[in-house]
Amino acid sequence: MASWSACCCCSRRASGYERGFHDRPRQTVRSEAAKHSEEFDEQGPGLGLLRASENWRYHVNTLTKAMRTLTPAPIRSATRQSRLDWAFGRHFLDDRHELAGYRAELESLWPVVDAAYGRWGARTSGVGNHPVSFAELSPKSSERLYALIRKLRPGLLVETGVCNGVSSAVILQALHANRFGHLYSVDLPQFADPSEAAHWKPEPVTGTVAVVPVGQDPGWLVPDELRPRWELLIGRSQEILPPLLQRLGQIDFFMHDSEHTYECMHFEMTLAEKHLAPGAPLVVDDANWNGAFSDFVRARGLHSWDLDGGTYVTELSAGSEIDPGQVIVGGEGL
Ligand SMILES: C[S@@+](CC[C@H](N)C(=O)[O-])C[C@H]1O[C@@H](n2cnc3c(N)ncnc32)[C@H](O)[C@@H]1O
Repeated sequence: MASWSACCCCSRRASGYERGFHDRPRQTVRSEAAKHSEEFDEQGPGLGLLRASENWRYHVNTLTKAMRTLTPAPIRSATRQSRLDWAFGRHFLDDRHELAGYRAELESLWPVVDAAYGRWGARTSGVGNHPVSFAELSPKSSERLYALIRKLRPGLLVETGVCNGVSSAVILQALHANRFGHLYSVDLPQFADPSEAAHWKPEPVTGTVAVVPVGQDPGWLVPDELRPRWELLIGRSQEILPPLLQRLGQIDFFMHDSEHTYECMHFEMTLAEKHLAPGAPLVVDDANWNGAFSDFVRARGLHSWDLDGGTYVTELSAGSEIDPGQVIVGGEGL
């Protein structure tokens, strides 16, 4: 841990994660400043200092945003990635070389994925211009997910949302390198012909664009040598998960990347929580599509780490499950 030195994307998603989970929106800072200003008028100059500090925060915020806008995009992205590496590595890994080592191990997967996607004129997210997207985990979040599994060496893993199988392949490659662990994946696939542009319109309810090309099976990208540690269950997570988790008992890892509605995410997270071992990681992709994940972590006072591309990880602490009566419904998004 000692070697981590201090250094300091996509329409709807970007506003969520650029702002960060726990930052307050600028509007709140402004209105608090206004509130303090009113108090100042009513109660005299004793609150002047407080008002000045609120204004100070507002100006620093504005300056930071202006600097961010003026910085070229590649530098902004590199700075952001090294910040994410630092925060993730500082908590989960021993030193800065460990992440680089895991990253190198995963390198062999990308040519396989790209070659497979290339057949449909697609590339993995973040790599070049791709006419179609397979809605898979981003390469950066994949690398950090891979590092997490290599480091923590979970035994029983469950994920929802397989589609073509990028996240499954990443997890299974880590289990293969660990020579330990078994992954259970749940997916209700949608099929489409990628050459027909109409099929790539977002699904109206969830906004998801995630389809398996006609003629392929869900998870078709997963290399054969990784499959012995894998069981794929086809169906809605709402129906498949309860009996699966009942059968498995305690699990060591859970990842959501299926239906990104508040209800489904809330359902999966609260059910997984009952089965996750104390301290086990809960990974949620597209966590910024609605307030389900932020409500979940806030209600339990949990910290979360940004793995990139809307993917977050939190660790459940012993007894972190809250009384169902306290569940917060709604949420304004991250
Ligand atoms: C975003 S994709 C998963 C991408 C995958 N994790 C990857 O990295 O390649 C979401 C998948 O979840 C499936 N899905 C949607 N709603 C579901 C539900 N209620 N239960 C299970 N799977 C669902 C979709 O059909 C799609 O295959």
